[in-house]
Amino acid sequence: MITAEALGKTYSSGGRPLPVLQGIDLVIDSEAFVAVVGPSGSGKTTLLGLLAGLDRPTAGRVTLDGQDLSALTEDQRAEFRARHVGFVFQTFHLLPTLTALENVLVPLELVGGAREARNRAVALLERVGLGDRMDHFPAQLSGGEQQRVALARAFANRPKILFADEPTGNLDQDTGATIVEMLEELNREARTTLVMVTHDLTVAERAHRVIALAGGRVVSDREGGGGAAVVRPAASDVAGR
Ligand SMILES: Nc1ncnc2c1ncn2[C@@H]1O[C@H](COP(=O)(O)OP(=O)(O)OP(=O)(O)O)[C@@H](O)[C@H]1O
Ligand SMILES: [Mg+2]
Repeated sequence: MITAEALGKTYSSGGRPLPVLQGIDLVIDSEAFVAVVGPSGSGKTTLLGLLAGLDRPTAGRVTLDGQDLSALTEDQRAEFRARHVGFVFQTFHLLPTLTALENVLVPLELVGGAREARNRAVALLERVGLGDRMDHFPAQLSGGEQQRVALARAFANRPKILFADEPTGNLDQDTGATIVEMLEELNREARTTLVMVTHDLTVAERAHRVIALAGGRVVSDREGGGGAAVVRPAASDVAGR
């Protein structure tokens, strides 16, 4: 389960405070599939980074699986992420000096045995259709291929919680649909909690729940078409704020 309480993020820009997220209260059930939508600049990537413990809020707090992230040091958060959280970035963040296969191995080598890790990395790359691109470096891959390597990497540890920031943003419809199916399968079968930012409303409708941001606040929180998950009202609605 993921909870955010009174979560806020304010950057400073040219010496002035720039509030980007304000008063976000959320409870996301374990095994849920949640889509986060909203206009460009509304704070979606910022929210995902805070929920995943990649970044620290300037107000409020996040609890992941009972762990209050604000109680951890930077190193402890990194360790916690490596064990529990997968993240697919909007900008892929592949390591340029590593091949596709080596990139997928990065999180696996953090947690375990070499041969098993390699087999799993190979299987994941085949799964995303890159069986014949394993030894390519990121600069030798197309944008969509890089995105697929990033997905394979995020799946590698069988994370309990997977955050994906526009995972189909650079893909054609067919490849995008395959990726969404893989994400759904991970959610359904490995029971991974899935929180996905998307601009594609047909993708969002496959989620159990759709949370819309605008101007750094939750403006709607409703059931999606993808499942019978129980939808909780935003805590801010309950509090009448
Ligand atoms: N490090 C930073 N310093 C200052 N402002 C930032 C920083 N990171 C993001 N912002 C600002 O915060 C706002 C929200 O950014 P964010 O990346 O969360 O938006 P988004 O909803 O993911 O948009 P998009 O759909 O374009 O990816 C933007 O206006 C952005 O300019
Ligand atoms: Mg973004």
